[in-house]
Amino acid sequence: MHLFDKKILLGVTGGIAAYKTPDLIRKLKAQGADVRVVLTRGATEFVSSLSLQAVSGHQVHSELLDEQAEAGMGHIELAKWADVLLIAPATAHCMAKLAHGLADDLLSTLYLATTAQVFIAPAMNQQMWQARATQDNLQKLQLRAIRFIGPAAGEQACGDVGPGRMEEPELIVSALASALTGNKLEGKKVVITAGPTREPIDPVRYLSNHSSGKMGYAVAQAAAEQGAEVVLVSGPVSLTVPPGVKRISVQTADDMLEAVMSEINSAQIFIAAAAVADYRINHQAENKIKKSDDKLTLTFVKNPDILKTVAALPSPPFTVGFAAESQNVEAYARGKLENKNLDMIAANDITLEGLGFNSDENALHVIWKEDDVQLPPANKTGLAKSLIALVAKQYNNKQSN
Ligand code: PMT
Repeated sequence: MHLFDKKILLGVTGGIAAYKTPDLIRKLKAQGADVRVVLTRGATEFVSSLSLQAVSGHQVHSELLDEQAEAGMGHIELAKWADVLLIAPATAHCMAKLAHGLADDLLSTLYLATTAQVFIAPAMNQQMWQARATQDNLQKLQLRAIRFIGPAAGEQACGDVGPGRMEEPELIVSALASALTGNKLEGKKVVITAGPTREPIDPVRYLSNHSSGKMGYAVAQAAAEQGAEVVLVSGPVSLTVPPGVKRISVQTADDMLEAVMSEINSAQIFIAAAAVADYRINHQAENKIKKSDDKLTLTFVKNPDILKTVAALPSPPFTVGFAAESQNVEAYARGKLENKNLDMIAANDITLEGLGFNSDENALHVIWKEDDVQLPPANKTGLAKSLIALVAKQYNNKQSN
């Protein structure tokens, strides 16, 4: 609930991406925000006032001179009510009006009348975005500390390819959440494990799993964005290191333990997102095992539990585990929280299609001693930001107790 109690005034202008605003409102509300909507005349061509009223749960405002609306929450009251003015999608025309201080409709008037923090998610044709006039307006607005979210690049509704698409609703929500929560991990060192481990059988074969590292890398990126010094101890994956993050590459669980222990003493937070092999082959064959008998028997021995080892240190960091479960998800996760003596655990149900191992999306049930929060299915980048916001909050609570 990273936008808990935040009063968000959503301005919707006339672009094709306006059809995504019901979804955007749902996602803002899921994070605890109270959302009121202002529609420009152009926007009504793309999305109905009635559907935005239904999802926001409030009357939608569109006219500056509307007796009925002014009798309820008038435009000055609305401007004062808002903590945040988010304009999504914002057309080139809207940006030009705001840059020049025109106030000829409700949204542009509210912009002048509010002291709320302003965020803009532009959406327009790529050539319009790159036009000199739009870039000049962008610069003017940025000088007024207005924050821009996107635009994203890619294929556009008109068939062009380039920058100008409105950022996806979940990324708008997570950008807003991290901008409003600030650098919560400034001056903190966070050690994170990610990816699979590889336990060799012989010089050409190994035992491993389907972890891609995407979840752990997204967590590393989110922690770095919150100002932390991040060390990412990574099993073999093909991902690029997020900016500002130090990576230590490892292969086996033993290597991972050694790398973690070399960094952990100076760390305040440890997050174990890796899928570590619980067992390794007792004796790795020196030469490639030949296909001779019908049966091959291998003996396994237990690997060290890295997370448990860290949590059992005399002065452990704030310790966060992950639990990938295919049944009794919550019960097993709570068991690990207790048995491994963790501060927090993020459980993922790996039976859900399109989530968990090796996918771009995930959903987490984050549990700690006093409470729990469900983070619904989302892109791992956005989900990691929500997780890091929770970790930072609980870590800071623990320090102040
Ligand atoms: O990498 P992706 O493709 O993005 O997928 C993400 C993920 C599903 C791998 C990730 O979200 C996740 O759930 N990671 C933990 C997976 C797991 O194997 O959980 P576990 O239940 O076996 O282990 C519990 C916890 O102990 C984990 O934090 C694990 O990192 C840690 N552990 C486990 C065994 C061991 N020997 N050492 C450990 O530190």
